[in-house]
Amino acid sequence: MTPRVMESRYMQWAKQHVHVSYNLATSGLMSYPLSRLPVRLEDLEITGNSFYGYLPLQEALARHCSIGADRIFATLGTSLANHIAMAVLAGPGDEILIEDPGYELIVATAGYLGAVVRRFPRRPEANYQIDPGDIASRMSPRTKLIVVTNLHNPSSALTSEETLKEIGAIARRSGARVLVDEVYLDAAFDITPRSAVHLGEEFVITNSLTKVYGLSGLRCGWVLAEPSLIRRMWLLNDLFENIPPHATERMSVIALEHLDAIRAWSKGILDENRKCAKELLAPREDLECFFPVYGTVMFPRLMHGSVDTLYQHLLSRHDTAIAPGEFFGLPDHFRLGLGGTPESFRTGVMRLCAALDSLP
Ligand SMILES: Cc1ncc(COP(=O)(O)O)c(C=O)c1O
Repeated sequence: MTPRVMESRYMQWAKQHVHVSYNLATSGLMSYPLSRLPVRLEDLEITGNSFYGYLPLQEALARHCSIGADRIFATLGTSLANHIAMAVLAGPGDEILIEDPGYELIVATAGYLGAVVRRFPRRPEANYQIDPGDIASRMSPRTKLIVVTNLHNPSSALTSEETLKEIGAIARRSGARVLVDEVYLDAAFDITPRSAVHLGEEFVITNSLTKVYGLSGLRCGWVLAEPSLIRRMWLLNDLFENIPPHATERMSVIALEHLDAIRAWSKGILDENRKCAKELLAPREDLECFFPVYGTVMFPRLMHGSVDTLYQHLLSRHDTAIAPGEFFGLPDHFRLGLGGTPESFRTGVMRLCAALDSLP
């Protein structure tokens, strides 16, 4: 029997790099300052009426997602959203088909749930676009769930509605579901497509305000699905948390009311950093870069040498961190986070260039 997964190597690694001066390893926006949110002490309370959903938060999320509140399960970040959604949709021995490269925590969670993990490729040479044929050819009668991220972590590639519909049709034919983690989708800004939840009942969506809006500490996450599944998620959630942290539920309502301003702040930072990344990295012959049009991260390939050497060198001599591609399944790549202040991002990328120049 395969030993049950009880940890995430990626998460352990990620939590050790927060003290680096130039942290290019993070996937979300820098923290949105509390002082810019119009929160007054009298708006907060320690405990409230949060039983199977705090009504003002359910209503604010319903407006944000253009969906009925009975199709929303509010939870702690996309992490717990993914965990609970996957636990409701697949059990021990069921197959879960997950994109590769992909977010390690999704793979680890599937393993923890006792599912059999199978992978389908998102090829760098196809700019990480999904070929639905790769999914169809890996489906079996035991496949209960197909998991994709949109935008894709680690490449930020956008999956079109047409492709998602094709994946939905493949799932429907087998009685499976499609979990789309949309935590980065709003970073497509002006062209953000509607959530895949609107494409059919086989779609289950997870999301949060943590990445694109720099509100990680609020832990405002959610699942969108048909009401019967949402009810099962609320009930399973009883095994994890009695009631949610109410003060952050109230702050999340305020954040959702001011999301336009936060979105403009986030877009300004990402536009500038994306331009800087292109200016400094595109001319380099030692990197192969897919420059995503949207998103908070990019995933360059190191053409020669080892990413581990580059990573150690950056850390020890340049006080700078990147996320090694081995965590996502492509060890000759590394992930670069675009969400830092433009000044620190530029300095971090210049240090990356200096480290590349000094590699053998
Ligand atoms: C695809 C994906 N889903 C979920 C998460 C976790 O998000 P949260 O902080 O909302 O729990 C991450 C974090 O990096 C991620 O990349």
